[in-house]
Formats: sequence, C-alpha cells, structure tokens
Amino acid sequence: MQIQTRLKITVSILVLSLGGTSAWAEKTGREIVEQTCAACHASGKDGAPKIGDVAAWTQHSKKGITKLTESAIGGIGKMPAHGGQPNLSDLEMSRAVAFMVSFGKAVDPNKPYASPTSMTGEQLVQSHCVTCHSDGKEGAPRVDDFNAWKPRLQKGMDGLVKSAITGHKAMPARSGMASLSDTDLKNAVTYMVVQSATYKAKP
Ligand code: HEC
Ligand code: HEC
Repeated sequence: MQIQTRLKITVSILVLSLGGTSAWAEKTGREIVEQTCAACHASGKDGAPKIGDVAAWTQHSKKGITKLTESAIGGIGKMPAHGGQPNLSDLEMSRAVAFMVSFGKAVDPNKPYASPTSMTGEQLVQSHCVTCHSDGKEGAPRVDDFNAWKPRLQKGMDGLVKSAITGHKAMPARSGMASLSDTDLKNAVTYMVVQSATYKAKP
C-alpha cells in the first residue's frame, strides 16, 4: 500500500473515531446520559432534575413518559432541544429519558440500561399491552386482528418496535413504563404481530 493511501486511511479512521457524524453509532441510555445529559442533570444546573433524585423524577413523571420524551426532544425551559446534541436520534433520546427516570428505582444502577426484564414477550403483552390492544382502545390494533396490523407492517418490524419505544399517536412511549427496555418492547411487539397472524389463520 502506498504511504499516502495509508495516511489517508489512518486520518479517516481518526476522524471517524473522533465522532464524525457518519460514525455516529446508536448509543444506550446510560452512554447518552453520561456523555450528554449529565452536563446539567448531574448537578441540577438551571433546575434540571438531578440523576438519581427519585422524588424529583417521580414529580416530572406524572406527565407520563411520552410527554417527558417530547420535552427532551423539543427542549423545555432552559433545556435545549436534544440536550443541545442534535446528533442524538429520537430513539436515543427516548432511551436516555427512560434511563434517567428509572435510575435509582426500577433499574439496578449497576446494570447498563436496556437489560431486559425477566418477562417474555407473551407475558408483557398479557400483563400490560392488552389493556388497550385486546379491545382496540383509542384505535390500538387488536392482538387478534391481523388486518389492523397489515398496513402498519409497511414500516417493517423495526419501525413498529420504534413506535412502541418512542410512542405513536395515542400509543404511549414504552407503553408508559420507563422500566421496559428496548428488547422488552421488541419481544412484545413481535409476539403481538405473530399472534395476530395466527388468529387470522384460524378458520
Ligand atoms: C444544558 C443543560 C441540559 C442538558 C445538556 C440536558 N438537560 Fe434535560 N433539563 C435541563 C433543565 C434546566 C431542565 C428543567 C426544565 C424545566 O422544567 O423548565 C431539564 C429537564 C429535563 C426533563 C424533564 C422534562 C419535563 O417535561 O418535565 C427531561 C426528561 C430531560 N431534561 C431529559 C434530558 C436528556 C435525556 C438529556 C440528554 C440527552 C438532557 N435532558 C440534557 C437541562 C439540560
Ligand atoms: C394506553 C393504551 C396502550 C397500551 C397500554 C399499549 N398500547 Fe400500543 N397502541 C395504542 C394505540 C391507541 C395505538 C394506535 C396508535 C396509532 O394510531 O398509531 C397503538 C399502537 C401500537 C403499535 C403500532 C404503532 C405503529 O407505528 O403503527 C405497536 C407496535 C404497539 N402499539 C405496541 C405496544 C406494545 C408492545 C405494548 C405493551 C408493551 C403496547 N403497545 C401497549 C395504545 C396502547
């Protein structure tokens, strides 16, 4: 390899590893909070609810996790949109919010966020999602109605999982539970969609 080419490659790797936008990899809630949100939320700067202050977060959480995620994405008071980091995707913001809300209570702080709960997709759906998805409350696609899922499947399973994580119209972000990891939601969505297809196959 010519020395110039080699130099070019080294430089591009350096640029990429220093955080060039093209190298922006999806991060976990913990990583985002440590790298971006902690700048204000560790000390409580400008009245930011402090990480680990369960009482403060319980108060903010009364709005529901969907509203909190919207505030974090769009900005609120002295908090800039996306915590001032436009590179963060909505999905990453949702993970960071879930991490901060659950830190110190629902989630073991020593474990990285997004370690799945012990429930299977089926158990999650039966214990939580059916509240709305069994009778189609507010237009929720029913667990037994594949025709309701079919047009939604156009966005692909990943798109549906993303909706369940960040919220979608009347569907609350993370089904309203900050303690559910991305993996939990993926398992639950997969179960619901597969389940609905099975129902349709029945005579
Ligand atoms: C520059 C400082 C700053 C940074 C960086 C920052 N925040 Fe905030 N954040 C604040 C302040 C200040 C508030 C309180 C705003 C208010 O209630 O007026 C706040 C409030 C919030 C709330 C509560 C919103 C509500 O509706 O009650 C959430 C959720 C939140 N921040 C998430 C995040 C996330 C996630 C990040 C990192 C991606 C982040 N913040 C980074 C300053 C910051
Ligand atoms: C409070 C009621 C409620 C609960 C609880 C709920 N959902 Fe929903 N969900 C809805 C509604 C309403 C819609 C339809 C929103 C829309 O039009 O996209 C929906 C839509 C969805 C969609 C389709 C989104 C899209 O992009 O088309 C998925 C996937 C989904 N829910 C997954 C889940 C999972 C998984 C759970 C349980 C962990 C759950 N939901 C719990 C109300 C709920």
